[in-house]
Amino acid sequence: FAKPGRAGLSFGAIAPVDAEVDAFTVPAGYTWSPIIRWGDPLFSRTPAFDLNAQTPKAQAEQFGYNSDYLDIVPDPSGKTGVLVNNHEYVNPDLMFPPSADAAELRRRGDIYKAAQGMSVVEIRRKAVGDPWTYVVDGRRNRRITVETVFEMTGPAAGSDLLKTAADPEGRWVHGTLGNCAGGTTPWGTILSGEENFNGYFAWAADTAEQKRYSGSSTTSTSTGWEAYDPRFDAHDADYVNEPNRFGYIVEIDPQDPTSTPRKHTALGRFKHEGANIHVADDGRVVAYMGDDERNDYLYKFVSKNRISGSRRKNMTLLTEGDLFVAKFSGNSPAAEITGTGALPSDGAFDGTGTWIPLTRNGASAVPGFTLEQVLVYTRLAADAVGATKMDRPEDVEPNPVTGKVYVALTNNSRRSAVDETNPVTGNRYGHVVELTETSGHSGTTFGWSILMLCGDPNSFGNAYFAGFPKELVSPISCPDNVAFDSEGNLWISTDGAPSTIGYGDGLFKVPLTGAERGHVQQFLSVPRDAETCGPVIHDREGLVFVAVQHPGEDGTFAAPRSLFPDYGSTAPGDVATAPRPSVVQVHRA
Ligand code: FEO
Ligand code: CA
Ligand code: CA
Ligand code: CA
Repeated sequence: FAKPGRAGLSFGAIAPVDAEVDAFTVPAGYTWSPIIRWGDPLFSRTPAFDLNAQTPKAQAEQFGYNSDYLDIVPDPSGKTGVLVNNHEYVNPDLMFPPSADAAELRRRGDIYKAAQGMSVVEIRRKAVGDPWTYVVDGRRNRRITVETVFEMTGPAAGSDLLKTAADPEGRWVHGTLGNCAGGTTPWGTILSGEENFNGYFAWAADTAEQKRYSGSSTTSTSTGWEAYDPRFDAHDADYVNEPNRFGYIVEIDPQDPTSTPRKHTALGRFKHEGANIHVADDGRVVAYMGDDERNDYLYKFVSKNRISGSRRKNMTLLTEGDLFVAKFSGNSPAAEITGTGALPSDGAFDGTGTWIPLTRNGASAVPGFTLEQVLVYTRLAADAVGATKMDRPEDVEPNPVTGKVYVALTNNSRRSAVDETNPVTGNRYGHVVELTETSGHSGTTFGWSILMLCGDPNSFGNAYFAGFPKELVSPISCPDNVAFDSEGNLWISTDGAPSTIGYGDGLFKVPLTGAERGHVQQFLSVPRDAETCGPVIHDREGLVFVAVQHPGEDGTFAAPRSLFPDYGSTAPGDVATAPRPSVVQVHRA
């Protein structure tokens, strides 16, 4: 559709906001409004949100909780479109008062199942450039929940490792869990990462494979599903494989509310943060992905087939191809990587790297692993080939203007042995790596450098912003989601600033070229205890969208710490009191 307005988005950076301030703060000349909030009805038959009368049925037709990945996908007219949003997890203590009643806890458990997953909601506006409103009863409106049926695709679909009593074929899985970041494909589907799926299962952690994904043995979870739904009790012999059916990249078609969503085993199984695609010069599609765990890995998938004009064929591209994991090498002497973040004598944390194949031409490339084992126990396969342990890879996204790939490494309290790619001991503030493919995006070699070492320069003297004068940047900590505007500027949203630099989380613009390279400028700050997710930058329209996840997370139902987004009454149980995770648009005042 027609793109009005100038590229880039001009604003004066906001001052950092104290973490205890419960406000959504935008630059002078801008204002904000929620598009849709937790509990807003998607259909006219859906009950209005009532915090004290919530039911599983109502929640399954209302907007879900804890918004994360977001895209705003306009139709060709620019006046209608769809909003797609992930609902990563729930905060039971904010949604309900305490209860010890088993029947009530089970009823709530079904509400939690309905509040997670994903939402597709139609949006409309009078004119291109206007802010959007959501459409009740939109043709494409859809909730995907923990009971929606997904089809497994790729080489591990139908594998014994995926079979359960309820699904002897190993191909049909109810639900998606821990949906964190994601990406929108060139063919218009939405990819979403199943991240912290392990937290939904009672696990035995008997085997090396279970340990590598679950951490330790557990008997109860925060949602309580294992108490009445045996598939969340992996101690149950009938469902010992149920956790193997989560931890994938899922793909949904937001244009077709009757389509069956899919989980792609070819892209491996780990705590997938998200996936973002770049079309290589040879026409194959390359998906970049992070495993968000301390000391876990960076991956990419290269499709076997090439992109075409057929949307139907493009929707099969992620079912066949090769999976790689990254191994980084630094070019400075190890003695110069001191763990403090001080630059080595060549003035840069930088070097080269290789993509090590885990699968090749439809076969395992890892000795001792079958293809199915590589794709279901991907972390162990990557361990076996000596991949580089990273500081929690979150969003990994290719810049559509330059093709360079940006890796957000959010922090890593368990970073002890440093290397040039992860050079800070106990990495508190996180960093961002800029990666340049040197044999094409489908190739196996790359160069890299650290674009920025995050932190507040006033308290962390080795904070680094691509050489830009650090006294002029906005303090930033714990980079998580990334996005690009139409000029190719990097935008970073954060998760963890309050407990590390004492400011609220926010959204930051970072130019990547010219004299302004590395000039971090804060655009917005989210309310108390919230994380900034989603970001979508429609700079030519002067519109910025974010998902506000877990506002008031450190409070309780009776004692809320945030009144976002309605800032209404303070009576416990009043709808206007409840902090409501929401999708917000920022527009010119
Ligand atoms: Fe759900 Fe890695 O953040
Ligand atoms: Ca170096
Ligand atoms: Ca995230
Ligand atoms: Ca995070």
